[in-house]
Amino acid sequence: MKFFVDTADVSEIRELSDTGLLDGVTTNPSLIMKSGRPILEVTKEICDIVDGPVSAEVTAVEFNEMMREADILSELAENVCIKVPLTMDGLKACKALSSSGRKVNVTLCFSANQALLAAKAGATFISPFIGRLDDTGIDGMELISEIRTIYDNYDFDTEILAASIRTTNHVKQAALIGADVVTVPPAVLKSLAKHPLTDKGLEAFLADWAKTGQKIG
Ligand code: G3P
Repeated sequence: MKFFVDTADVSEIRELSDTGLLDGVTTNPSLIMKSGRPILEVTKEICDIVDGPVSAEVTAVEFNEMMREADILSELAENVCIKVPLTMDGLKACKALSSSGRKVNVTLCFSANQALLAAKAGATFISPFIGRLDDTGIDGMELISEIRTIYDNYDFDTEILAASIRTTNHVKQAALIGADVVTVPPAVLKSLAKHPLTDKGLEAFLADWAKTGQKIG
């Protein structure tokens, strides 16, 4: 399973990238707003830090304008992945971009039929939003499961990128179902490593080690 971080905060990205555990980054207009930085500048900087795909979202809603913005974003770096919304114009842009060899992330997916269309349009990634479905009382994980079945039925290459991840349990459930990628906020990503028994066990080991008076090396 690949791990992407869902942020445009360059210092968080640098810190996580240094662990060697990061496979990519996803951004969106809200995350760019949070960063307080110009989209082209911050996206370029992220692309220089991370080798894997960096999703940068178009903000146009009409096909021709989406394509114009996609060309500008693509110029930034080899590893830019163009993010388009799951609308008919977005799907048309996805088809055109993927046919010209570009990586495309189709975002704002809330149904299995939407995911089916994205795969037919040649999407590299489909981004179903788990947390936002949960917010409405619908089980977001059920959608991941449905998409997994449909993509496997037809051997689609499109990767399921579980998005709008809010908890460590979301990550575990997505992994159990077989999502290809999770994009996770930095705080959730870091808390995946945490367990109170790990802390307690380490404390005890270190206390006993101190009693030995030894040193390694
Ligand atoms: O990758 C999409 C994600 O950023 C949306 O997350 O928490 O705003 O629903 P959220």
